[in-house]
Amino acid sequence: MKKVLIGLLTGTLILISSCSDNEKKTIDPSLQLDLAGEQLEKSLKWLGDTILNPRTMEDGSVRLVRSQDWTSGFWPGMLWYIYESTGEEQWKDAAHHFSMNLEQEMYNGGTHDTGFKMGCSFGNGYRLTGNEDYRDILIQSAKTLITRFNPTIGCIRSWDHNTDKWDYPVIIDNMMNIELLFWATKETGDPVYYEVAIKHAETTLRNHFRDDHSSFHVVSYDTISGEVVKKNTHQGFAHESAWARGQAWGLYGYTMSYRETGREEFLQQAIKIAEFILDHPNLPEDKVPYWDYDAPGKPDIPRDVSAAAITASALYELAGFSMDKKAELMMAADQILTSLSSDYRLSGDHSWPFLLDHSTGNMNKDSEVDVPIIYADYYYVEALMRKKSLMQE
Ligand code: GLY
Repeated sequence: MKKVLIGLLTGTLILISSCSDNEKKTIDPSLQLDLAGEQLEKSLKWLGDTILNPRTMEDGSVRLVRSQDWTSGFWPGMLWYIYESTGEEQWKDAAHHFSMNLEQEMYNGGTHDTGFKMGCSFGNGYRLTGNEDYRDILIQSAKTLITRFNPTIGCIRSWDHNTDKWDYPVIIDNMMNIELLFWATKETGDPVYYEVAIKHAETTLRNHFRDDHSSFHVVSYDTISGEVVKKNTHQGFAHESAWARGQAWGLYGYTMSYRETGREEFLQQAIKIAEFILDHPNLPEDKVPYWDYDAPGKPDIPRDVSAAAITASALYELAGFSMDKKAELMMAADQILTSLSSDYRLSGDHSWPFLLDHSTGNMNKDSEVDVPIIYADYYYVEALMRKKSLMQE
């Protein structure tokens, strides 16, 4: 922290402290969670008992989505975290309502996003309440998710669209969905879910990463031989580029996979991804990445706050697994949380159900560019919860 002398109008000189951008005082997670609660209370009133869940802002209006949308679980998930933080019943009631909007998704075998949807909503709900109905929904969801596993390939299929481009696309994001499967084996004792999850993580480790430990977005496989056919992007700048959110999903996915399996190669991969992100010459000083590390036009191109929020949350967990790197990873996570809380928070004087601005969903389609997006908020609040709990240790 540097000291500067400021001349007052009176001519008196006074010594005050000022901070450069990367020296800002680390935020207080409890205070930030309280502020989030105050803001979201207005959003709850505004939303009422709709059966739709918020996703983003579009042309100045809140866009609500049905349960089929891949983002539908983040809003109830965030409400569960606010309930955990405050202990107030109103959040539990709201989190229950918006989770139940997703109930039918337990049978939706047309998506790999079941882990995101059901894990964030019912997963947090079950963790906090022990509600047996949530448990049944989660187990059925895991059963549905493993129907998308192909043992020849060793991965869960991601998308069913664009069949002209990809026979069997698997995206790096899909690492997030296997958390539900690890949970299902712990809960039921049936190893099938764990076996699918670990195979998916192993195959992804083998095929999705480049020598510099950045990842491709989409790897497509041959369903007969199980061999890799293509390594592409969909939401990134180029096939060979490092799409920012993809790197964050990989970091979070391998950190979580290490937690669930104790496999050293998963830990090493998570550490290498963290190094790729944090040492990248194109990572801005405030540690909120541009939408793709390799996209041209910096600094006048959109950031992706969601990638920063996912990264911060993952780094707090990873720091606990690496004594060598603990201080460095914690400091990076703190810097991201401080940046997000200081410079990317939406003002609290509206009813929008969002906390952070400046995420980028799909730049290539000019869709959700530089706007609030619900998954940024979910991982931001999760990171605040993780930071708060680390401070209480
Ligand atoms: N999982 C989709 C995305 O990150 O945009």
